[in-house]
Amino acid sequence: MAVTERDKTIVVIGTGYVGLPAALMLAKAGYQVVGVDINENIVRAINEGVMHIREDELQRLMDEPEVRANLRAQSTPCEGDVFIIAVPTPLDDRKKVADLSYVDDAVESILPYLRPGNLVIIESTIPPLTCRERITPMIEEATGLKVGETIYLAHCPERILPGDIFYEIVHNDRIIGGINEITREKAAEVYASFVKGELYRTDDVTAELVKLMENTYRDVNIALANEFNAVAETLGIDGREAIRLANRHPRVNILMPGIGVGGHCIPIDPWFIKEVDPANSRLIFTSRLINDEMPHKIAAKIRRAVRDATAPKIVALGAAYKPNTEDTRESPALEIVELLREDGYDVAHYDPLVDGMGYPSLVEICRGADMLAILVPHDEIVAELERDRERIEQAMRTPIIRRYQ
Ligand SMILES: NC(=O)c1ccc[n+]([C@@H]2O[C@H](COP(=O)([O-])OP(=O)(O)OC[C@H]3O[C@@H](n4cnc5c(N)ncnc54)[C@H](O)[C@@H]3O)[C@@H](O)[C@H]2O)c1
Repeated sequence: MAVTERDKTIVVIGTGYVGLPAALMLAKAGYQVVGVDINENIVRAINEGVMHIREDELQRLMDEPEVRANLRAQSTPCEGDVFIIAVPTPLDDRKKVADLSYVDDAVESILPYLRPGNLVIIESTIPPLTCRERITPMIEEATGLKVGETIYLAHCPERILPGDIFYEIVHNDRIIGGINEITREKAAEVYASFVKGELYRTDDVTAELVKLMENTYRDVNIALANEFNAVAETLGIDGREAIRLANRHPRVNILMPGIGVGGHCIPIDPWFIKEVDPANSRLIFTSRLINDEMPHKIAAKIRRAVRDATAPKIVALGAAYKPNTEDTRESPALEIVELLREDGYDVAHYDPLVDGMGYPSLVEICRGADMLAILVPHDEIVAELERDRERIEQAMRTPIIRRYQ
């Protein structure tokens, strides 16, 4: 509602988890929004008013007449006042550095449409200095415009939690990174149209690093929890209970150990810091190694648990990267099952939330099995296990049931 110039056009490049919710919010705020995606199915879905991200509240927003009237999608960019880039920035797995090819393509695709006074906002997660050293020269060389003077470039990273995007995109505080004051004010005006959290203005490099620090903090904290848990195991005590008790200290907040770190942010973003300053990223690097090692450790525990069974049949439950989501990106559970299968183990893998991995009942899938390994404790798995535990044990050939997080 805070939009002062309602006839402004915002072109959002990449309408996935990050770009589409932003496009909806901006359309609701009164901007003319063009969503651009190279995926034709996504373009079609948006123009038909169908959300490709599963969140009821976002679909309700999409259904609002104002939003439908102000938002359209297409597969190529066009002229506009503001360009928001929200394309993927995966990890180049071999080199362990950011794969910026999608960002390069997206920036190149808007170059012919850039005009004096335009604002380009990068929402994709990028390594520090990407705005200054990579995107600025691309824009200046192609357009002859001067970034910070005749055209503006900002980094405004996203911190939404998939599953709770509708609430978080509005209520989270946001970092607005721009090379100078005028850039920051222009970018802040865009977000002020729908963000109720604070807008913190800073320079572009700080904004780039802040985003990476947030996910790296969680990765290092989880690595510490995994180490504490391993020490507790050596001592023969319950690591989770020890962490819960340590967290009763008013200034301690240790996360919980697990089977590894998944999703497409936390296991990736720390590498973007190491990439720009390896000498000062030793703790970050070690934490990555510790967390990446976890699926191997869990697979080894499962092998030990079934070592007395002949031709053991294992049922693995949970394939998502964390409990209560259907997202399997970078999932350690998938890696554990793959490791076991590579070793020749007979593993049946199920997840009630993941398409194509559902099951009739735990009793049914555990019939004749030697082990039930709970890799991802979705609420619905835990509830069924608690309810039917006795029947499940009776159905198994060897009733070994272990929960790994
Ligand atoms: N999903 C999250 O929770 C989250 C949170 C914070 C930051 N991020 C970051 O935001 C960025 C986008 O992530 P996402 O989860 O929205 O990814 P996504 O895969 O859901 O969406 C990206 C979209 O960009 C499209 N695309 C790729 N190249 C394009 C191009 N050249 N032109 C037009 N469209 C193009 C893809 O087809 C896809 O639909 C990444 O850098 C990610 O790290 C994501």
